[in-house]
Amino acid sequence: MSEPTPDQISFDLTPQEFGRLGERLTELMIEAFEAERSEPVLRSVSGPELRALLDEPLPQVGTTPDDILTQWRDNVLPYCRRNGHPRFFGYVCTTADPLGVLADAMASALNQPVTAWRSAPAATEIERLVVRWLDNLVGFGGEGSGLLVSGGSSANFHAMACAVTRAEHRAGLPPGSRHRLSIYLSKEGHVSMRKGAQLLGVPPSQVRLLEIDALRRLRPDALRHALEEDRAAGLVPALIGLSAGTANTGAIDPLDEVADIAEEHDAWLHIDGSYGAPAVLTEEYAWMARSFERADSLSLDPHKWLFAPADVGCILIHNDEDARRAFTLYSEYTEITQTDPIERYALFDRGLEMSRRFRGLKVWTILKARGVEGLRGAISHDIALRRHLDQRIADHPRLESLGSELSISCFRYVPEGATDGRAVDAANRTIIETLVREGRCYMSPTTLEGKYSLRACIVSFRTQQSDVDFLVDEVLRVGALAAP
Ligand SMILES: Cc1ncc(COP(=O)(O)O)c(C=O)c1O
Repeated sequence: MSEPTPDQISFDLTPQEFGRLGERLTELMIEAFEAERSEPVLRSVSGPELRALLDEPLPQVGTTPDDILTQWRDNVLPYCRRNGHPRFFGYVCTTADPLGVLADAMASALNQPVTAWRSAPAATEIERLVVRWLDNLVGFGGEGSGLLVSGGSSANFHAMACAVTRAEHRAGLPPGSRHRLSIYLSKEGHVSMRKGAQLLGVPPSQVRLLEIDALRRLRPDALRHALEEDRAAGLVPALIGLSAGTANTGAIDPLDEVADIAEEHDAWLHIDGSYGAPAVLTEEYAWMARSFERADSLSLDPHKWLFAPADVGCILIHNDEDARRAFTLYSEYTEITQTDPIERYALFDRGLEMSRRFRGLKVWTILKARGVEGLRGAISHDIALRRHLDQRIADHPRLESLGSELSISCFRYVPEGATDGRAVDAANRTIIETLVREGRCYMSPTTLEGKYSLRACIVSFRTQQSDVDFLVDEVLRVGALAAP
């Protein structure tokens, strides 16, 4: 085989060819959007079937772009879960704003590794602007310190890294004194915070998972008690992690009361608002802004309730110095020579990643296109739909509510005459499995107080009241068939 000469190697497409393929791509995207309304939420396929369809040896020679698009159409697109389906009620997974999708395509074309201003001037400025806008949107009241990251888990990790580094610094401990620190989380807090504590090297026995109340909110008395015990044992409280909307039931911890406790104990207050923070735009949840302002850090995910396509989360930090202390390390090959403070700005000095996607463009596009008013309308609509769902549950003797907040409602079907908890659980398992298999609507399960529960989360601008009614009717239909 003769080696090609360098001037024979080019992956470029002519403008005409790029345009032609772009048209085919747009057609496929339009088909995918249409399918979100007309096709099942998830086409039934087994793991081995899908593996058999997609598996092949590493290609040694290239395939034509047209063949590749055809393979996307035939073998990939049909088996992607349609998260933008109006009757998709699973997890905390949003319908992607189509303008965000276009922005993401543009971001890939520009291929900006958003490391620092000197390497990606416009992308860095857009990201910094978006961070300030998001700060404004939720009333955090910071000075623009923060970062776009891959999602809520990464945002929580960044906050925790800042917190433990600050705690060591304030206590005059040498870096790496994690064995002297303690962390306080609710049992209902997101698993990513427990993971963060583990990765940051705080001993498991010093990561307190605190009791919750009947509304599944962290109990301040349990927090006080744990703090006092740990202080007496000579530990340094590094971080208290709260939720403004848990993934499980949407529970909002007593933010203000805990902010007082955090101040008393000089502990970093982090609020995980990955899901729930944007609800602060509504009249009902506007009160959260008061507490957001008091937190040292806040996570919020544009790819959840601000309708951005994955991935994009955001961590807001009140004091930029805390982020720099945790993440700035010198290397010769990344040195910044600019002197102007705007031009000197390095995102890699405030977070884990060096090369980062141009995530700001899609968030900027959505905020510009929809405005705060548009987003408030969409979020209020989702909360109103959750209320409608709650009413349907309350109105039906076979349905039992297990808790609801923000845009999440948990409930279960109780078969007539059912006395055995296991039989009720089994009926609800059958409901979930049947609904997911049939694909007309989609919910995810959870377990609350030992009761297997159906969980509906509404973070879509597409879902209507008729979709919620459809869901309830389906639960009742399948529940009646599944009853023992
Ligand atoms: C409250 C909360 N925190 C953190 C996360 C994790 O976010 P991500 O999946 O974007 O990492 C989620 C995910 O649903 C969440 O609801």
